[in-house]
Amino acid sequence: MSKVFTVVSGKGGVGKSTFCTNVAISLAEQNKKVLLMDGDAGLRSLDLLLSVDSMVVYDWLDIIENRCDYNKARLFFNDNLQLLPAPITYPDSLTKEIFMDMVGKFREEYDYIIIDSPAGTGELPLLYANCSDMNIVIATPDEVSARSACAVGNALIKQGIGEDKLRLIINRFDEKAVKRGKLLNIDDMIDRTYIRLLGVVPEDRNLMYFSVTENLLSDHSNTKFAFGNIAKRILGKEVPILL
Ligand SMILES: Nc1ncnc2c1ncn2[C@@H]1O[C@H](COP(=O)(O)OP(=O)(O)OP(=O)(O)O)[C@@H](O)[C@H]1O
Ligand SMILES: [Mg+2]
Repeated sequence: MSKVFTVVSGKGGVGKSTFCTNVAISLAEQNKKVLLMDGDAGLRSLDLLLSVDSMVVYDWLDIIENRCDYNKARLFFNDNLQLLPAPITYPDSLTKEIFMDMVGKFREEYDYIIIDSPAGTGELPLLYANCSDMNIVIATPDEVSARSACAVGNALIKQGIGEDKLRLIINRFDEKAVKRGKLLNIDDMIDRTYIRLLGVVPEDRNLMYFSVTENLLSDHSNTKFAFGNIAKRILGKEVPILL
């Protein structure tokens, strides 16, 4: 039975889709079966990040509305990692129960289902969060992102989601800038968001080149190591937070 993780943020553009893609690759490399679900209806991006965009035919709404079998909608990145693309739009009638029923078709087969949510606290992020075993809040180390991560955490708690189901990822961390006092440090981020830390991802331009070059992170890069450590922590292993 898989665990469902939703990746959310207050502010847009802080790295949710990049995080989802790379942490899913790391979990798959650690021999876990992972389904990445693109939850960003209308603004899907995971098919591009995994370079399977030319193969997209169906999406998860096609499963819900019986236009295709659930097996047909997913795309194979490799044996351990598959992608379920996002629809262009979704109907007002979509409920937590309907969405969970669709997710349930995959739960036997996968160890982890990771949902890439749109930013903010709109209908879809709250619906996904209500279907999840864990919610990962992504924030960059600056005041605006920290405040919005705190707001999204509070919005989830208001929905009845326990603090124990929230984790923080600090993305685009740049130690030199932190030392020069230009970015918030790890403690500042935890103090401002009140969310338990799951991991830190460094600032790395290769993550931006990824969708154009189709080159995955090098096995020897610090960033690859950081994603590997986050994947291990998701698996319940004790590994140090710092790079
Ligand atoms: N650690 C990082 N270092 C450098 N660039 C990064 C890092 N993480 C993400 N980026 C870049 O930041 C931009 C936004 O990333 P991404 O699309 O993953 O954000 P998002 O939170 O999913 O955005 P949206 O809210 O629009 O869905 C991209 O150009 C991405 O390559
Ligand atoms: Mg995104």
